[in-house]
Amino acid sequence: MNGPIVDRIIRKKKHDIMKKVKMGTRIFPIMPMSILGAKVDGKANFMALGWLSRVNANPPLIGVAVNKSHYSIAGIKENKTFSINIPTKKMMKETDYCGLTSGKNTDKSEIFNVFYGKLLTAPMIDECPLCIECKLVETVEMPTNELFIGEIIETHIEPQYLTDDIPDIKKIDPIFLTMPDNNYWTLGEKIGKAWSAGKELKK
Ligand SMILES: Cc1cc2nc3c(=O)[nH]c(=O)nc-3n(C[C@H](O)[C@H](O)[C@H](O)COP(=O)(O)O)c2cc1C
Repeated sequence: MNGPIVDRIIRKKKHDIMKKVKMGTRIFPIMPMSILGAKVDGKANFMALGWLSRVNANPPLIGVAVNKSHYSIAGIKENKTFSINIPTKKMMKETDYCGLTSGKNTDKSEIFNVFYGKLLTAPMIDECPLCIECKLVETVEMPTNELFIGEIIETHIEPQYLTDDIPDIKKIDPIFLTMPDNNYWTLGEKIGKAWSAGKELKK
């Protein structure tokens, strides 16, 4: 019943599934790296964060999954705010450091130049090309993590990282994390236009 192109895609898919091996349940291989900012005990604290995603269109919501043992949790809950800071690849070591150390025993408030926006309690990192301040709107408790859902209240970006008034991902040069090999990567080549590349298969 399907057209010849769709038939071909479906046949190819069945073939691929036959060749796959099972890897268990813990593989989620690629994530954009960010640094979560929270004000804890009156001080800025930053932690490395790979588990984040846009989760709603309107209002614009972001979900971040934070382990219950982390120091950042107290600040997010107390102020009901947090920030997401997108580091450039030059900030790989600082980003990793924020993931290797805890605010419980290391003061991370001096690593970066910190600024605050509308929310006043979501510390942001001046060195990061792009910073997003979020107001906590919902907390979903999971067995090991808390899923904090935040509404984007403002996004701060330096003009040098814009092209035609939108964030230019090449200029931002973000970091990606792969697991379980635990490596950092940079952006590859643009391969097509989203919401457009598949159009020719609709013919
Ligand atoms: C590459 C990388 C990614 C990480 N991603 C997350 C994450 O998504 N969620 C999380 O809870 N912890 C994550 N962590 C661990 C925290 O950043 C780390 O435990 C940190 O010390 C917590 O800081 P805090 O105790 O000051 O809040 C990550 C660590 C690294 C190195």
